[in-house]
Amino acid sequence: MDKREIIEKTEQYVRMLLENDASGHDWWHIERVRRISVTLAKKEHADELIVEMAALLHDVADEKIAGSEEKGLSVVAEWLEQMPLSNHDKQHIIEIISSVSFKGGNGKKPHTIEGMIVQDADRLDAIGAIGIARTFMYAGSRGHLMYDPSLPYRENMTKEEYRQGRSTAINHFYEKLLKLKELMNTESAKQIAIKRHEFMERFLQQFYKEWDEQYEDVNS
Ligand code: ADP
Ligand code: NI
Repeated sequence: MDKREIIEKTEQYVRMLLENDASGHDWWHIERVRRISVTLAKKEHADELIVEMAALLHDVADEKIAGSEEKGLSVVAEWLEQMPLSNHDKQHIIEIISSVSFKGGNGKKPHTIEGMIVQDADRLDAIGAIGIARTFMYAGSRGHLMYDPSLPYRENMTKEEYRQGRSTAINHFYEKLLKLKELMNTESAKQIAIKRHEFMERFLQQFYKEWDEQYEDVNS
């Protein structure tokens, strides 16, 4: 099995696992994260095979999909067991996957450039127009409101509060999305994040403007 086959087989496996996900982790999310990751890997001279494999597998271990993070990571380890990669590379891929997630600000910072890249790519897909769309889909899938002016957003929260507590799509901007620009690891990702961040701010301005307009004379 050469590098290309390892990637192709892993792609098929992940497609099969995430085909029917409607909580923002569908196959196309993985494909976008993979594409940005590979682009960043080239710019940053990182190990492209490690980056692409970790990007493909990064959500297989998500606790929302696997049940728990430990279970998810062992599913990834079992998959990698069959691949002709060195133990060092397998460990590296698993390490990256365990550090990618945001977890309400309680996530880990990756130790290697490959990990930083995959984390940046996953976070870039959470902001901008696509990030906004994913946020509303996620809120819908959890039965949350899009906005509730009487529900304040949360400043600091534990991983459990972040996952389980009551929120709205709009609150999620303040609880996560608007923080991501400053958390980018690589300069290339930061540049992309700045533009996507500006778009989210314009979106929020327009959203509040329309929300308030409902009480005004439409002809004025
Ligand atoms: P990640 O892949 O970064 O771990 P998550 O699994 O937390 O992201 O979430 C998947 C998508 O749903 C992301 O776009 C994220 O911003 C969004 N999301 C996560 N939690 C919420 C929430 N409480 N309300 C709205 N959107 C959310
Ligand atoms: Ni993801």
